[in-house]
Amino acid sequence: MSAENPYAEAVGAADPGGAALSVRDLTVTFPGDDGQVRAVRGVSYDLNPGEVLGIVGESGSGKSVASMAVMGLLPKTARITGSVRFRGRELLGLSEKEMTSVRGNKIAMIFQDPMTSLNPVYKVGWQLSEAVLAHHSVSKEAARKRALELLEIVGIPSPDKRIDQYPHEFSGGMRQRVVIAIAMANDPDVIIADEPTTALDVTVQAQVLEALRAAQRETGAAMVLITHDLGVVAGQADRVLVMYAGKPVEIGPIDGIYYQPRMPYTVGLLGSLPRLDQRTQDKLTPIPGTPPSVVNLPPGCPFAPRCPLRTDICLRVEPALLPVLGAEHQAACHHSDQLAHESAMEIFSTDPNADPGQGPRDQNHEQGPDQNRQSGAAQ
Ligand SMILES: Nc1ncnc2c1ncn2[C@@H]1O[C@H](COP(=O)(O)OP(=O)(O)OP(=O)(O)O)[C@@H](O)[C@H]1O
Ligand code: SF4
Ligand SMILES: [Mg+2]
Repeated sequence: MSAENPYAEAVGAADPGGAALSVRDLTVTFPGDDGQVRAVRGVSYDLNPGEVLGIVGESGSGKSVASMAVMGLLPKTARITGSVRFRGRELLGLSEKEMTSVRGNKIAMIFQDPMTSLNPVYKVGWQLSEAVLAHHSVSKEAARKRALELLEIVGIPSPDKRIDQYPHEFSGGMRQRVVIAIAMANDPDVIIADEPTTALDVTVQAQVLEALRAAQRETGAAMVLITHDLGVVAGQADRVLVMYAGKPVEIGPIDGIYYQPRMPYTVGLLGSLPRLDQRTQDKLTPIPGTPPSVVNLPPGCPFAPRCPLRTDICLRVEPALLPVLGAEHQAACHHSDQLAHESAMEIFSTDPNADPGQGPRDQNHEQGPDQNRQSGAAQ
């Protein structure tokens, strides 16, 4: 991993505000045949001890690359800048040996495929006991007893039988629960779960999310929960960070994001969710179009080609992430004020042939945009 860290001094030498994890201006670029792949273009967040931050966005928005950069798991071709501080200690630039001791010991990662973390040739009880023994000086019997407890906490039925089985004898959801149990055994301060339920059906998803909640309660760890589905973070997260084209476009407390979104992309994600309070005749409103390539992004707001609210300024200037409803809730949109009055249903047409941005709004809002909302990194 190559790492430059021009911001290390700017964000302070010590643990800013007591955050468990503090990410500042993180960028990741890969070389590509058609140009630089700007996978992450400036991600900043603080993860407070014990809190759950949901990171949400469509495929390719940079969620995994940003987290792999935090964990030091990117290939050597990745060019990384910015700062990642874990309890005040800068992680970017650490040697592989130093990073290995941070991973597993202090920051646990849970991937979509549990077999990435499980060893197929060892019984789950052995794998769990090893994790317990690595962190506590206890007898083998005590480690096995703790392994049994952990299996019970994550909701594995008949743990006394299951403990002596191999991973292939478990279903996908049960394997994921074993991975969560191992993460707990490692007693981490931070858990990063990257699409932990994406491969699972809805009922199993709920069980795995419950296991994650239990893990968080038991360890008191802070958690980053990455998903493309805002519905998944609904019952889990304290705050949500929405990513689009490698950048955060909205961040805020969960209630603010759900009930007062201020960025059309977030509104669109919410509009695609089935809601209990939705009238049956209302159609879900998927966001038209697809995310842009992060190679040679055009100037302006990356969401503009799909945004029904876009105006001239949106095509010229990328909006900066600025406070919208108090300092805690920030959005990157020239027209965020307008969203106080419109629902997803009103903003996004259900007509699949509708051309976003070509309606009367292009004329109507020429007076409205906040000219100060210029991103420092207009592309
Ligand atoms: N090793 C790599 N080399 C080049 N480009 C990469 C590499 N890894 C990821 N990318 C690119 O970086 C961008 C962000 O990818 P990333 O995997 O972070 O997306 P994501 O938000 O996690 O998507 P998903 O929901 O599909 O997991 C994509 O354009 C992807 O093609
Ligand atoms: S800045 Fe313009 S194009 Fe981008 S989300 Fe806001 S209204 Fe849409
Ligand atoms: Mg991913």
